[in-house]
Amino acid sequence: MPAVKYFNSERVIIMLGNFSYCNPTKLYFGDDSLEFLKDELGKYGKNVLLVYGGGSIKKNGIYDEVTEILRSAGKSVEEISGVMPNPTINKLNEGVAVARKHGADLILAVGGGSVCDYSKALSVSVNYNGDPWQKYYIDFEEPDCEIIPVGCILTMVGTGSEMNAGAVITNPEQKLKIGHVFADERIMPRFSILNPKYTLTLPHYQMAAGIYDIFNHICEQYFSGEDDNTSDYIAEALMKSVIHSSRIANKNPQDYEARSNIMWTATWALNTLISRGKTTDWMVHMLGQSAGALTDATHGMTLAAVSLPYYRHILPYGLAKFSRFAQNVWGVCPNGKTEKEIALDGLAEMESWMKELGLVMSLSELGATEEMLPDIVNGTLILDGGYKVLTTEEVAEILKESL
Ligand code: NZQ
Ligand code: ZN
Repeated sequence: MPAVKYFNSERVIIMLGNFSYCNPTKLYFGDDSLEFLKDELGKYGKNVLLVYGGGSIKKNGIYDEVTEILRSAGKSVEEISGVMPNPTINKLNEGVAVARKHGADLILAVGGGSVCDYSKALSVSVNYNGDPWQKYYIDFEEPDCEIIPVGCILTMVGTGSEMNAGAVITNPEQKLKIGHVFADERIMPRFSILNPKYTLTLPHYQMAAGIYDIFNHICEQYFSGEDDNTSDYIAEALMKSVIHSSRIANKNPQDYEARSNIMWTATWALNTLISRGKTTDWMVHMLGQSAGALTDATHGMTLAAVSLPYYRHILPYGLAKFSRFAQNVWGVCPNGKTEKEIALDGLAEMESWMKELGLVMSLSELGATEEMLPDIVNGTLILDGGYKVLTTEEVAEILKESL
């Protein structure tokens, strides 16, 4: 939060509030990055729990490469496979039993955000005897048990999970999808291996969803506050980089340079750096996540579907920032236009970029129906860091417009 001070009773927001910053995740980036896995494995005990998703790593050969390194390092390996996109609490409970039986010393996540998130949730649940859903996702408590270290080998880009302490879990019975960003930095991966080549087998749909996830993470931290904050300048640069590289990757998904830049931007978009010293919004994620709990849709696409109705709704309350976004990120020429016209032109530019990438622009395309709306409204947490604290009626209105 930015610091608010009073001079002669005038309220002044001071650039950069007070904060601490620590990110302990060690990154290995590049097409040779898997070579460093053996060094990392040497730091942990014998029992490794290998966690992965529905099988993409078996098709593209990453599974064979990783298991060979584990075998050469003499590790005793147990596997948890089938971690689904939007991992569920039932799958988490299943993993707890496997991890306990194996006495895991290290959880090695090989996959996208779902696998990394799941592994972090597992790391704080294995040695906890109660119900992790209640403790971490309803009561938002921090762990008070031993945490098992997590390492990640990333295969899908977007969430930033490789360098943060977030872990999103879905409870389909309760129709809730909830993210807990843990305060305890021991929950951040101890190391993450980022090889852009691993992302080249992603289907275009997932690549585009990931790109929008990155962009929206930056927006969520940018559209808040009125102070002059270094984080916002970094955010603008990251947004320009991801727009630029996404256009190249959209035309040629095999472009290694563009995919590398997208991978690196994703990490910086959500490794807590650009949220330092400022307020943040996160309402697009709250709306998208709630829709995701009901539809099980791809995360980045749920964000794309709700973004423009939400941003057009809050634009009058954060006009100066939306106008700055239009000019600094999208190059909108301000001449002869009102501030509102400039701001709206920025969102129009953003909309045409989103369509160019082939993003899903409505919730109905993701399977949401009018009948689901009350549950989606009900599952939307209302946060107060953005330009407008929404009422429940406004949440319903925005979701209806997003259908
Ligand atoms: O399961 P497999 O077979 O591996 O297939 C996956 C999955 O179907 C596939 N995939 C991954 N790498 C691939 C590949 N297919 C071919 N080649 C590859 N190299 O892609 C699909 C999606 O994977 P997933 O991990 O679900 O995607 P993503 O990285 O977008 O993660 C989404 C989850 O992360 C949460 C989301 O809510 C969602 O649950 N988030 C986590 C955040 C965090 N930790 O800070 C923040 C985000 O805002 C987000 O909420
Ligand atoms: Zn996201």
